[in-house]
Amino acid sequence: MSRRILIAGNWKMNKTSAEGAALVKEIVAQMPAGSLPEILVCPPYLTIPAVVEAAKGSPICVGAENVHWAANGAFTGEVSTDMLKDAGVTHVIIGHSERRQYFGETDETVNKRTAAAVAAGLVAVVCVGETLEEREGNKTADVIDRQVRKAFEGISAADMAKIVIAYEPVWAIGTGKTATDDQAQEVHAQIRALLADLYGADVAEATRILYGGSMKPANAAGLLAQKDIDGGLIGGAALKAPDFIALIKAGMQA
Ligand code: 13P
Repeated sequence: MSRRILIAGNWKMNKTSAEGAALVKEIVAQMPAGSLPEILVCPPYLTIPAVVEAAKGSPICVGAENVHWAANGAFTGEVSTDMLKDAGVTHVIIGHSERRQYFGETDETVNKRTAAAVAAGLVAVVCVGETLEEREGNKTADVIDRQVRKAFEGISAADMAKIVIAYEPVWAIGTGKTATDDQAQEVHAQIRALLADLYGADVAEATRILYGGSMKPANAAGLLAQKDIDGGLIGGAALKAPDFIALIKAGMQA
């Protein structure tokens, strides 16, 4: 497979600067030798400088968990693409289900943030996923179709080189319930087929689609062995160095 595996940690609202730096140093100290996947950690905004400093000279990239679409201005509590880049950030998570659920994130704001991120040269890790109610109502395919189409409205085929998609079924996040390998693969294949429709086969083949939702060392190999699963966006298991290292190793074997 030509797509490089991406093992990404979403730290959510966890770890102080000192704790985050210590975690990165522990991961770096245990980093396996050999051909590594792309490795990303996304800490809370305020701790980004400390984490960037700790990751310096290592293969670990640092991302943010959100970004605003405006360049600057009266947007209390928000952070711009320039501020992220200035702090050494290369990637940004957009449209995580927790933001959609708790902070009023919509398909439209996901689209605006995504457009701003790629215009600024950041890699946008754009999250999509259905709720339990939607899955049980057989609406998964419709929800994913809508979320993907809306997220990438106005995004060119060339810009897609800066896009990673994360499929995160909401019912699998932080619940210990993982989508089965087949359930995840089915949605990943649907997303790739939609990308082929929207952008053609080359973009569809080149775009990485991560799985997220209770991914851990015990289930990573099975998920990463699926044809259309190109990595993981990991919450809980990214907060412990031995688990994150095990996930990196699973990525090396995929
Ligand atoms: P968990 O791995 O804790 O289920 O979180 C997944 C997630 O939301 C990553 O963005």
